[in-house]
Amino acid sequence: MQHKGTRTLETRRLILRRWQTGDAEAAFQNWMNDPEVTKYLTWKPHGDIAVTRLLLEAWAEEAEEENCYHWAIVLKETGELIGDISVMHANDYQETGSVGYCLGKRWWGRGYMTEAFREVLRYCFEEVGFYRINGSHAAVNLGSARVMEKCGLVPEGVRRGAFRLLLTGERVDIVERGILREEFHR
Ligand SMILES: CC(C)(COP(=O)(O)OP(=O)(O)OC[C@H]1O[C@@H](n2cnc3c(N)ncnc32)[C@H](O)[C@@H]1OP(=O)(O)O)[C@@H](O)C(=O)NCCC(=O)NCCS
Repeated sequence: MQHKGTRTLETRRLILRRWQTGDAEAAFQNWMNDPEVTKYLTWKPHGDIAVTRLLLEAWAEEAEEENCYHWAIVLKETGELIGDISVMHANDYQETGSVGYCLGKRWWGRGYMTEAFREVLRYCFEEVGFYRINGSHAAVNLGSARVMEKCGLVPEGVRRGAFRLLLTGERVDIVERGILREEFHR
Protein backbone atom coordinates (compact mmCIF):
# COMPACT_ATOMS: atom_id res chain seq x y z
CA MET A 1 0.00 0.00 0.00
CA GLN A 2 1.33 3.43 -0.96
CA HIS A 3 -0.30 6.01 1.33
CA LYS A 4 -1.40 9.21 -0.37
CA GLY A 5 -3.73 10.68 2.25
CA THR A 6 -6.81 12.80 1.65
CA ARG A 7 -6.27 14.07 -1.89
CA THR A 8 -9.03 16.13 -3.51
CA LEU A 9 -11.31 13.91 -5.62
CA GLU A 10 -13.92 14.96 -8.14
CA THR A 11 -17.05 13.28 -9.50
CA ARG A 12 -19.70 14.55 -11.86
CA ARG A 13 -21.58 16.46 -9.16
CA LEU A 14 -19.24 16.48 -6.15
CA ILE A 15 -15.89 17.64 -4.85
CA LEU A 16 -14.37 15.57 -2.03
CA ARG A 17 -11.75 17.55 -0.16
CA ARG A 18 -9.94 17.76 3.18
CA TRP A 19 -11.76 19.01 6.24
CA GLN A 20 -11.00 22.60 7.32
CA THR A 21 -11.69 24.32 10.64
CA GLY A 22 -13.89 26.85 8.81
CA ASP A 23 -16.37 24.08 7.95
CA ALA A 24 -17.84 23.97 11.47
CA GLU A 25 -20.86 26.24 10.89
CA ALA A 26 -22.06 24.42 7.76
CA ALA A 27 -21.40 20.93 9.14
CA PHE A 28 -23.31 21.77 12.32
CA GLN A 29 -26.29 23.28 10.49
CA ASN A 30 -26.42 20.70 7.69
CA TRP A 31 -26.24 17.43 9.66
CA MET A 32 -24.17 17.30 12.83
CA ASN A 33 -27.01 18.74 14.94
CA ASP A 34 -29.67 16.49 13.40
CA PRO A 35 -30.99 13.49 15.38
CA GLU A 36 -32.44 11.93 12.21
CA VAL A 37 -29.00 11.80 10.61
CA THR A 38 -27.33 10.35 13.72
CA LYS A 39 -30.17 7.89 14.47
CA TYR A 40 -28.08 4.78 13.64
CA LEU A 41 -24.64 6.27 14.28
CA THR A 42 -22.11 5.89 17.09
CA TRP A 43 -22.28 9.57 18.05
CA LYS A 44 -25.07 11.84 19.29
CA PRO A 45 -26.15 15.03 17.52
CA HIS A 46 -24.06 18.02 18.59
CA GLY A 47 -26.08 20.16 20.98
CA ASP A 48 -23.72 23.09 20.57
CA ILE A 49 -21.57 24.30 17.69
CA ALA A 50 -18.61 24.42 20.10
CA VAL A 51 -18.58 20.60 19.92
CA THR A 52 -18.42 20.74 16.12
CA ARG A 53 -15.60 23.31 16.24
CA LEU A 54 -13.49 21.14 18.53
CA LEU A 55 -14.07 18.09 16.37
CA LEU A 56 -13.16 19.90 13.18
CA GLU A 57 -9.95 21.23 14.71
CA ALA A 58 -8.94 17.62 15.31
CA TRP A 59 -10.04 16.56 11.81
CA ALA A 60 -8.15 19.42 10.13
CA GLU A 61 -4.99 18.38 12.00
CA GLU A 62 -5.46 14.70 11.09
CA ALA A 63 -5.94 15.68 7.45
CA GLU A 64 -2.19 16.37 7.20
CA GLU A 65 -1.37 12.72 7.91
CA GLU A 66 -0.48 10.45 5.00
CA ASN A 67 -2.65 7.57 6.23
CA CYS A 68 -5.78 9.68 6.82
CA TYR A 69 -8.62 9.19 4.30
CA HIS A 70 -11.35 11.59 5.35
CA TRP A 71 -13.25 13.88 3.02
CA ALA A 72 -15.76 16.70 3.31
CA ILE A 73 -18.34 16.33 0.51
CA VAL A 74 -19.13 19.56 -1.36
CA LEU A 75 -21.82 20.03 -3.99
CA LYS A 76 -20.17 21.45 -7.11
CA GLU A 77 -23.24 23.34 -8.27
CA THR A 78 -23.77 25.39 -5.10
CA GLY A 79 -20.52 25.00 -3.13
CA GLU A 80 -22.52 23.71 -0.14
CA LEU A 81 -20.90 21.33 2.34
CA ILE A 82 -23.33 18.39 2.38
CA GLY A 83 -21.62 15.44 4.05
CA ASP A 84 -18.70 13.38 5.18
CA ILE A 85 -16.99 10.17 4.05
CA SER A 86 -13.96 8.40 5.42
CA VAL A 87 -11.97 5.20 5.30
CA MET A 88 -10.87 4.63 8.88
CA HIS A 89 -8.37 2.31 10.53
CA ALA A 90 -6.14 2.00 7.46
CA ASN A 91 -4.01 -1.07 8.23
CA ASP A 92 -0.72 -1.19 6.31
CA TYR A 93 -0.06 -4.90 6.60
CA GLN A 94 -3.64 -6.11 6.03
CA GLU A 95 -4.27 -3.40 3.41
CA THR A 96 -7.76 -2.89 4.81
CA GLY A 97 -9.87 0.02 5.99
CA SER A 98 -13.48 0.67 7.07
CA VAL A 99 -15.85 3.12 5.45
CA GLY A 100 -18.07 5.59 7.32
CA TYR A 101 -20.30 8.28 5.84
CA CYS A 102 -23.19 10.65 6.45
CA LEU A 103 -25.09 13.26 4.50
CA GLY A 104 -27.36 16.17 5.42
CA LYS A 105 -31.03 15.14 5.21
CA ARG A 106 -31.87 17.79 2.60
CA TRP A 107 -29.67 15.91 0.11
CA TRP A 108 -30.77 12.33 0.75
CA GLY A 109 -32.09 10.14 -2.05
CA ARG A 110 -30.32 11.78 -4.99
CA GLY A 111 -27.49 9.29 -5.38
CA TYR A 112 -24.86 11.57 -3.88
CA MET A 113 -23.41 9.09 -1.37
CA THR A 114 -23.23 6.31 -3.93
CA GLU A 115 -21.39 8.71 -6.25
CA ALA A 116 -18.97 9.76 -3.48
CA PHE A 117 -18.33 6.23 -2.21
CA ARG A 118 -17.64 4.81 -5.70
CA GLU A 119 -14.96 7.45 -6.22
CA VAL A 120 -13.47 6.78 -2.77
CA LEU A 121 -13.33 3.06 -3.60
CA ARG A 122 -11.64 3.78 -6.94
CA TYR A 123 -9.04 5.96 -5.20
CA CYS A 124 -8.42 3.46 -2.40
CA PHE A 125 -8.08 0.43 -4.69
CA GLU A 126 -6.41 1.96 -7.73
CA GLU A 127 -4.25 4.73 -6.33
CA VAL A 128 -3.49 3.75 -2.72
CA GLY A 129 -3.51 -0.04 -3.05
CA PHE A 130 -6.04 -1.12 -0.43
CA TYR A 131 -7.04 -4.77 -0.81
CA ARG A 132 -10.31 -4.73 1.12
CA ILE A 133 -12.77 -2.10 2.36
CA ASN A 134 -15.09 -3.06 5.22
CA GLY A 135 -18.50 -1.56 5.84
CA SER A 136 -21.09 -2.12 8.52
CA HIS A 137 -24.55 -0.75 9.16
CA ALA A 138 -27.58 -1.29 11.37
CA ALA A 139 -29.77 -3.85 9.60
CA VAL A 140 -32.70 -1.43 9.84
CA ASN A 141 -30.70 1.33 8.11
CA LEU A 142 -32.00 0.46 4.66
CA GLY A 143 -30.60 3.57 2.96
CA SER A 144 -27.05 2.71 4.01
CA ALA A 145 -27.56 -0.96 3.14
CA ARG A 146 -28.56 0.10 -0.36
CA VAL A 147 -25.58 2.46 -0.78
CA MET A 148 -23.19 -0.37 0.16
CA GLU A 149 -25.01 -2.81 -2.08
CA LYS A 150 -24.85 -0.41 -5.05
CA CYS A 151 -21.12 0.06 -4.39
CA GLY A 152 -20.51 -3.69 -4.37
CA LEU A 153 -20.05 -4.41 -0.64
CA VAL A 154 -21.22 -7.97 -0.12
CA PRO A 155 -23.06 -8.93 3.11
CA GLU A 156 -20.84 -11.33 5.08
CA GLY A 157 -22.69 -11.83 8.33
CA VAL A 158 -24.93 -10.34 10.97
CA ARG A 159 -23.92 -9.52 14.54
CA ARG A 160 -27.23 -10.00 16.33
CA GLY A 161 -28.23 -7.32 18.84
CA ALA A 162 -24.73 -5.87 18.62
CA PHE A 163 -25.61 -2.20 18.95
CA ARG A 164 -28.00 -0.07 21.02
CA LEU A 165 -29.17 3.12 19.34
CA LEU A 166 -27.79 6.00 21.39
CA LEU A 167 -30.96 8.10 21.43
CA THR A 168 -33.61 5.41 22.01
CA GLY A 169 -31.79 2.45 23.54
CA GLU A 170 -33.31 0.13 20.90
CA ARG A 171 -31.08 -2.89 20.19
CA VAL A 172 -30.36 -3.54 16.53
CA ASP A 173 -28.48 -6.10 14.45
CA ILE A 174 -25.32 -5.03 12.64
CA VAL A 175 -24.67 -6.24 9.09
CA GLU A 176 -20.99 -6.68 8.17
CA ARG A 177 -19.97 -6.18 4.55
CA GLY A 178 -16.86 -5.94 2.44
CA ILE A 179 -15.49 -5.51 -1.05
CA LEU A 180 -12.16 -6.78 -2.42
CA ARG A 181 -9.98 -5.03 -5.00
CA GLU A 182 -10.64 -7.62 -7.71
CA GLU A 183 -14.39 -7.37 -7.16
CA PHE A 184 -14.29 -3.60 -7.65
CA HIS A 185 -12.50 -4.03 -10.97
CA ARG A 186 -15.02 -6.59 -12.13
C1 LIG B 1 -27.29 6.50 4.28
C2 LIG B 1 -27.09 7.79 3.50
C3 LIG B 1 -25.62 8.15 3.51
C4 LIG B 1 -27.54 7.59 2.05
O1 LIG B 1 -27.15 8.71 1.28
P1 LIG B 1 -27.92 9.05 -0.10
O2 LIG B 1 -27.12 10.03 -0.86
O3 LIG B 1 -29.32 9.37 0.21
O4 LIG B 1 -27.82 7.63 -0.81
P2 LIG B 1 -28.12 7.33 -2.35
O5 LIG B 1 -29.14 8.30 -2.86
O6 LIG B 1 -26.82 7.24 -3.07
O7 LIG B 1 -28.74 5.87 -2.25
C5 LIG B 1 -29.73 5.57 -1.31
C6 LIG B 1 -30.49 4.35 -1.74
O8 LIG B 1 -31.18 3.82 -0.61
C7 LIG B 1 -32.57 3.78 -0.90
N1 LIG B 1 -33.27 4.07 0.36
C8 LIG B 1 -33.17 5.16 1.12
N2 LIG B 1 -33.97 5.04 2.20
C9 LIG B 1 -34.57 3.84 2.10
C10 LIG B 1 -35.51 3.13 2.90
N3 LIG B 1 -35.98 3.65 4.03
N4 LIG B 1 -35.93 1.92 2.46
C11 LIG B 1 -35.45 1.37 1.34
N5 LIG B 1 -34.54 2.00 0.54
C12 LIG B 1 -34.11 3.21 0.92
C13 LIG B 1 -32.78 4.82 -1.97
O9 LIG B 1 -33.93 4.58 -2.69
C14 LIG B 1 -31.51 4.62 -2.81
O10 LIG B 1 -31.59 3.44 -3.57
P3 LIG B 1 -31.91 3.46 -5.16
O11 LIG B 1 -30.85 4.29 -5.81
O12 LIG B 1 -31.88 2.04 -5.55
O13 LIG B 1 -33.28 4.10 -5.29
C15 LIG B 1 -27.90 8.96 4.10
O14 LIG B 1 -29.23 8.58 4.19
C16 LIG B 1 -27.42 9.32 5.49
O15 LIG B 1 -26.50 10.10 5.64
N6 LIG B 1 -28.06 8.77 6.54
C17 LIG B 1 -27.73 9.08 7.92
C18 LIG B 1 -26.31 8.67 8.29
C19 LIG B 1 -26.08 7.18 8.10
O16 LIG B 1 -26.96 6.37 8.32
N7 LIG B 1 -24.85 6.83 7.69
C20 LIG B 1 -24.47 5.45 7.44
C21 LIG B 1 -24.15 4.73 8.67
S1 LIG B 1 -23.71 3.03 8.34
